[in-house]
Amino acid sequence: MIAQRLDPKLERVIDDFPILNRKTSRGKRLVYLDSAATSQKPQCVIDALTEYYSEYNANIHRGVYEIAARATDAFEGARAKVARFVNAGEPAEIIWTRNTTEAINLVSYSWGLNNLKPGDAILVTQLEHHSNLVPWQLLAEKTGAALRFIPVDAHGLHDLTNLERLLEGTKLVALSQVSNTLGTIAPLERIIPAAHAAGAIVVIDGAQAAPNMPVDVQAMDVDFFAASGHKMCAPTGIGFLYGKRALLDAMPPFLAGGDMIRRVSYEKTTFNELPWKFEAGTSNIADAIAFGTAIDYLSELGMDWVRDHEHAVMTYAFKRFKELQERGLLVYGPNDPDLVADVVSFNLGDIHPHDLASILDTDGICIRAGHHCTMPLMEKMGWPATARASFYIYNTEADVDALIESLLKAARLFKL
Ligand code: ALA
Repeated sequence: MIAQRLDPKLERVIDDFPILNRKTSRGKRLVYLDSAATSQKPQCVIDALTEYYSEYNANIHRGVYEIAARATDAFEGARAKVARFVNAGEPAEIIWTRNTTEAINLVSYSWGLNNLKPGDAILVTQLEHHSNLVPWQLLAEKTGAALRFIPVDAHGLHDLTNLERLLEGTKLVALSQVSNTLGTIAPLERIIPAAHAAGAIVVIDGAQAAPNMPVDVQAMDVDFFAASGHKMCAPTGIGFLYGKRALLDAMPPFLAGGDMIRRVSYEKTTFNELPWKFEAGTSNIADAIAFGTAIDYLSELGMDWVRDHEHAVMTYAFKRFKELQERGLLVYGPNDPDLVADVVSFNLGDIHPHDLASILDTDGICIRAGHHCTMPLMEKMGWPATARASFYIYNTEADVDALIESLLKAARLFKL
C-alpha cells in the first residue's frame, strides 16, 4: 500500500488495476512508469474479455442466433463509444485497426497512393515515431512525392518559422499530437488551419494524445486521427482510425476479403459501406469490446481529470528532477508541464540508459530505455539513447519519489 495520503478518487483508480497491487519477485511495490509503451489494464477491462469468451463468443455480422447478435451489438456499441470519445460525426467514421501504425498505413496506402504524384510534398516533423515516418518515406518513394520536415529546436519544440513555405505544394501533413520521446504537445491550432489553407489534408498520430487528454476531432478539424487501445487501458491488438466521411467514402479499400464486400461474382466485387469497407476478415472482436469498456472507464474518470492529474504528477517530477542536476541528470525536451503530456526523457551522467533501467528494475521501477522508435530524432539531438519515464492515471507523487530515490542510488553506485 502507498503511505502517502491520496485523493480518494486516485486511491480507487489504483485499486482498479490488479497488477499495481502485486509485488515484484524482489518483494518491491511495482512502480510502473512505462505507460507510453503500454498502459496497465483495469479489472473491468480484463472482465470484459472473460465475459465475451465465456458468455457470448461468436462471430459478428453473420450469425442470426442470440449470442452472435449480442457479439455484434457489443462490437458496434464499442465503435460508437470510441466515436463519442473523440467526438467523431458518426460511428461509421471510426475504422477498427490493430493499432496506430496500421491506421497510418491505411491512410498511406488507400489515400496516399491514389492522391499523390511527383511534384507533390508530404510534410512531417522531426519528432515523429517511426510509425509516422516510415509509411510516408515508402509513400514518397512509390509516388515520387517529396518528403519534408518541420524542424524541432534544441528543446524539442516545433519550429514553425518556415511553415508556410514548407506547405507550398504539400498535399498531406502528418504529425503526432504528443511526442512519444519528449512529450511535446504539438501546436495543432496553428498547423492544422495553415495546412488546410495550403490545400493539404492532416493526419494526426494520436497514440500518445488520446490516452492523456480530451480529444475532439471535429473541433481540431483533423482529416484523419489514429490511436491505439493498449495505451489507454484497453488490450493490445486493437486501435482505430477516425476519418472524415467524405474522404473515407472516396478511398478504395485497404485490405480485401470477407465482410468488406457488398456483392462478389467471379468477375467483379462491389464493396460494403463505411466503416466495414475497411474491415476485411474477422475482426478482433473481444479486444474491440474491451476497448469499449476502457473508454467507459476513462470517460467516467473524465479526460479533464486525467490531464490535470498527469499535469500535477509531471509538475512534481520536474521539481524533484532539479535536485539531481548536480549529480549529472539531464532532462531533455521542453521541461515544462504545460508544454508536455505524460512523458519525460533523461540521462544520468554517463550511465547508459539500459544500465540505468536495469538498476531501477531492481527497485521495482519500470522505465523504457533506448531510442524509443525515434532514431532520426536521437541522431539530430546527438543522444545515443535516453531513459524515459511516462506517467498515467494511476501514478502518484510517491512513484516520483521512488524514481528519484532509485536514481540517487544509481548515482552513488556510479560515483556521480
Ligand atoms: N510507441 C511506444 C513507445 O513509445 C511503443 O514506447
